[in-house]
Amino acid sequence: MKPENLNTKIFLDSGDPAETKLVLEKLGFLDGQTTNPSLFAKNPEVQARITSGNKYSKGEVYEVYKSIVQEVSGLLPNGSVSIEVYADTNTPVEEILSQAREMNTWIPNAHIKLPVTKTGLEAAEILAKEGMRLNMTLVFSQEQAAAVYSATFRANKGQIYLSPFIGRLDDRGEDGMSFIKNVLEMHKAGDGHVEVLSASVRTYSHFMQCLKLNCDIATVPAKVLLEWAEKGCEMSEENWQYDKGELKTLEYEQVDLNKNWREYNIQHDLTDQGLEKFAKDWNNLVQ
Ligand code: E4P
Repeated sequence: MKPENLNTKIFLDSGDPAETKLVLEKLGFLDGQTTNPSLFAKNPEVQARITSGNKYSKGEVYEVYKSIVQEVSGLLPNGSVSIEVYADTNTPVEEILSQAREMNTWIPNAHIKLPVTKTGLEAAEILAKEGMRLNMTLVFSQEQAAAVYSATFRANKGQIYLSPFIGRLDDRGEDGMSFIKNVLEMHKAGDGHVEVLSASVRTYSHFMQCLKLNCDIATVPAKVLLEWAEKGCEMSEENWQYDKGELKTLEYEQVDLNKNWREYNIQHDLTDQGLEKFAKDWNNLVQ
C-alpha cells in the first residue's frame, strides 16, 4: 500500500515483466519501470535463447526488446517505461536519433534513455525540443547533471529524467548517496524541468535514504521492493541515519546551471565503462 507521506515515485529496475507482475501484486502499485541493455539481456527468455546457442539477428534483438517493453507498458499503462538506445563510443548522433524516434513509437508511455555523452547530449537537445520524454543515464558528476539541465532547457516538468547511479559510485569507494544529495541540492536553483531518478540502487538502506532525501523517483530492483512490501511499505523513522560506512563523501560543488551544455566537463570514467558494458551485453545477444 502506498504510504501517504511518500514523495518519491517508485519504479522497478528490471527487464523481466514477470517481476513487474510480482512486484505489482505484492506492493499494490508501481509508478514506472526502467530497463537497460544489461537488464534486457538478463530477461529469462532472452537468457534461455542465448544459452541454447541461438543468438538474434540485429533486427530480431530490437523486436524482442520491443515486445518486452510493450508487455511492461501494458502492466503499467499510467506509469513511465524507460527504453535505452544502443550506443557505443562510435555510435553517431544520427543513429541515436533514429533509434530514439523508433523506440518512442513502441509504447505511449516511454522515456527514452540516452547516455550522458557528447552524442547523447546532442541528441537530447534535439529530441527534447521535439517534446520527446527522455531519461539521461550513466550520470556520475554534477557537471554532467548540469549539462543535461542545460541541453534540455525549456522542456516540460516530467519530460526529462536524470539518472545518477548510486551503487557504481559505492563500488569504487565513493558515497553514491552523497552524490544524489548534491544533485538534488544543485537542482534547487533550477526550474524543475529535470526530475532526479536515483538509479543503481542496490540495498534496502540506499532505498530508504532515497525516500528520506525525497528524490523525485527511485528505480529499485525487485528484491528490495519485495522486502519493502514485506515491511508494510515503511517510511524511515525520523531519527534514522544512512550509514555510509567507509565510503568517501562527495563534496558539493558550486556548478552554474545556466551555461551552454558544451562548456561543462562531461567526461567520467564510470560513464565510459558503463557505455562499454551496456554495448557488450547487447552485442553478446547478436549474431
Ligand atoms: C537504471 O536505470 C540503471 O540502468 C540501473 O539502475 C543500473 O544499475 P546497476 O548499477 O546495478 O547496474
